[in-house]
Amino acid sequence: MPGIDASANDQRPTTMLKAVRGTRDLLPPETALWNFVEAAVRDVFRAYNFHEIRTPIFEETQLFSRAVGEETDVVSKEMYTWEDRTRAESEKGQSLTLRPENTAGVVRAYIEHKLWDRGLNKLYYIGPQFRRERPQKGRYRQFYQIGAEMLGPATAGSESPARDAEILELLATLLDRLGIENWTLELNSIGCANDRAKYNEALRKALEPVAAKMCADCQRRAVTNPLRVFDCKVPEDQPIIEELPRISQYLDEPCRKHFEQVQEILNAVGVAVHVNDRLVRGLDYYTRTAFEFTHGALGAQNAILGGGRYDGLSEMLGGPSAPGIGFAIGEDRLVLALKENAEAVQPKPDVYIAPLGAGMDREAARLARELRRHDLIAELGDETFRLKKSFEVASKLGARFILIVGENEVKAGAFALKNLESGEQVSVARAELARKIQAGH
Ligand code: HAM
Repeated sequence: MPGIDASANDQRPTTMLKAVRGTRDLLPPETALWNFVEAAVRDVFRAYNFHEIRTPIFEETQLFSRAVGEETDVVSKEMYTWEDRTRAESEKGQSLTLRPENTAGVVRAYIEHKLWDRGLNKLYYIGPQFRRERPQKGRYRQFYQIGAEMLGPATAGSESPARDAEILELLATLLDRLGIENWTLELNSIGCANDRAKYNEALRKALEPVAAKMCADCQRRAVTNPLRVFDCKVPEDQPIIEELPRISQYLDEPCRKHFEQVQEILNAVGVAVHVNDRLVRGLDYYTRTAFEFTHGALGAQNAILGGGRYDGLSEMLGGPSAPGIGFAIGEDRLVLALKENAEAVQPKPDVYIAPLGAGMDREAARLARELRRHDLIAELGDETFRLKKSFEVASKLGARFILIVGENEVKAGAFALKNLESGEQVSVARAELARKIQAGH
């Protein structure tokens, strides 16, 4: 390969390479918890008739700048963007970006494949997203989202407050199903484009005399996109932000009604809501309903998920009118909230098969194949191990049984099976092994 001189490697001291800052390896037993979470959410999505979509991990940069908004932190500071080095003339210099979120990609795919024609209007996804944020507990540069989007023509009822309530009820069900307690649903309506124009004007006016005392970002936002002032984390700016007008005073009648109806349905199905008229969300595509679920045990990064309605997004991306609502759960944060259970869901081997002496690897392999066909988790030892070592390995792995495979056992067609929890040891005929191990559960 040009530019890489293999011999130069020999001169260099060997330095240990580590995962890039903000990225991490997910290791067992935690990966079992991730699988548990993903299996449970797939079940819930199934019950609500959502279907899975997988969009590319990178897209054209303008997809995100148009959908999420130039002035948002995500687009202005956090995206991993590069100019493609392809030789194809038509693609030269194309600006590409690792997806920082998945709503834009899903809506792009919805438009590109005319999914409304196929009646596909409830889609979910599970996958990595990328944002160059300052890493801390619960905040990573590669993180995972479990998300869903429900969108379609207004004639199909996609604007209805019943859809908002259905999404929020789904989320309450999901968190309950996973055993997550103590979550709070923070709910707001940020109105439609009309309301927002009025609200932005009011914010601009209110910011005029105070902007000079605020951080550089806020000074810029006060002019370009005043709503984004609410994303500010600078402590000194917070008293000023606290005094700014609230969106709730600017909702028109249809938006106010929509918001009320969402709450009425949630009330009817028993989902508790905390109305928070300071919640505006950090992405520009939202209209009307905006929400976050927070969880006390997560510390500073306490938003376990966020979402809302995005009625104009499809048009913004060149598509037809397709009002929609969706959410994304931070899977890393969900797993953090569940972490205490990590050991409990890590499956342990049912049986450790210990071949004893030359030629026994073969026999052990045959037995492992038979037992695994019965859905048992079998871990294979090695014929070079002494019996003592096999016992040590089996107990380190947490195996429930150890099965001894020596020449005598093979000849007799019966094997020593020891229950490592109770210490009981029995001789079991080959045909009976699976049943005996299963019965020992
Ligand atoms: P978001 O609020 O930017 O919304 O992200 C959703 C969730 O992803 C957050 O609540 C958080 O749990 C998780 N998250 C975000 N950034 C990080 C990070 N750096 N490390 C770990 N977790 C993180 C969206 O992305 C929207 N697309 C949600 C949506 C879907 N709205 C409508 N449909």
